[in-house]
Amino acid sequence: MAFNITARASSSTANLGPGFDVFGLALDAFFDEVTLTKKKQGIKIITSDLVPTDPQKNTAGLVVQHMMKKFKIKSGIEIKIRKGVPAGFGMGSSAASAAAAAVAFNELFKLNLDANTLVECAGVGEMASAGSIHYDNVSASVLGGFVIVRTNPLDVIKIAPPSDLRLCVAVPKLDVPPKKTEVSRSVIPKNIALADSIVNLSNAATIVVGFMQKDSNLIGTSIRDIIVEPARQHLIPGFAAVKKNALRAGALGVTISGAGPSVIAFATKKSNLQKIANSMKHSFASAKIDSTVVICKPSNGAKLKKQYD
Ligand code: HSE
Repeated sequence: MAFNITARASSSTANLGPGFDVFGLALDAFFDEVTLTKKKQGIKIITSDLVPTDPQKNTAGLVVQHMMKKFKIKSGIEIKIRKGVPAGFGMGSSAASAAAAAVAFNELFKLNLDANTLVECAGVGEMASAGSIHYDNVSASVLGGFVIVRTNPLDVIKIAPPSDLRLCVAVPKLDVPPKKTEVSRSVIPKNIALADSIVNLSNAATIVVGFMQKDSNLIGTSIRDIIVEPARQHLIPGFAAVKKNALRAGALGVTISGAGPSVIAFATKKSNLQKIANSMKHSFASAKIDSTVVICKPSNGAKLKKQYD
């Protein structure tokens, strides 16, 4: 039996506009890598990145603790984390570490878990960063592609994205508050008008059809959210201009990536992706905010090192 296992999981974008807490899309923009090594006792986290090393406060640490308890495993474990996904920017950073940890644990102890169980275990890690468990990012990082999450009971559906779907993600260099996701969830209205939910539902349904029919135009033009985005956009200086100019540059749809503050533009292989990316960077710069813009595409799910080396 193996003594240590390494797994890698990608960044992701949650919501895709109207699919709040339901839709996720794995993106090959950034990756986290987690190595689990069996030890005599205890859980120890090793990393040179700016993440907590207390297992109770660390995403991967919580996942490992949960899985040890759930599957009655008695062992010590060392967790080595290499972060590639920027933390706190709405790119599914905690989910990527959680997904890599769950997939590595599954292999290390030969648990042979199904997809829903892996997602459930990885979701526990979201407690560390978001203060609540939501499965949109972790489902995307575990399974790859486009995912739809149903809860009670947890059930995740994956659809392979169209091969020509491309995205531009602008990650603004903002000081994000420590409990950013909690903050950005607190501004969402508790009650919404039926008319607004109809608009969002129609767009969400069309996004699903777009993925099923492999129609990137249908997906992109349905990235319209009139409930959550308007409530959150004030948390992202320059958002309105970034969106307007990316659309002018040819993006099909633009919205907040997950809980923000990154902004994501949907396009196709045929779009002028560099023009869209430049327009996003310049628009943030006009608001006196530096940003990193990455052109990316949907990615596969978490992989063991032997599968991606
Ligand atoms: N769906 C969640 C939100 C994602 O928008 O709050 C958080 O990463």
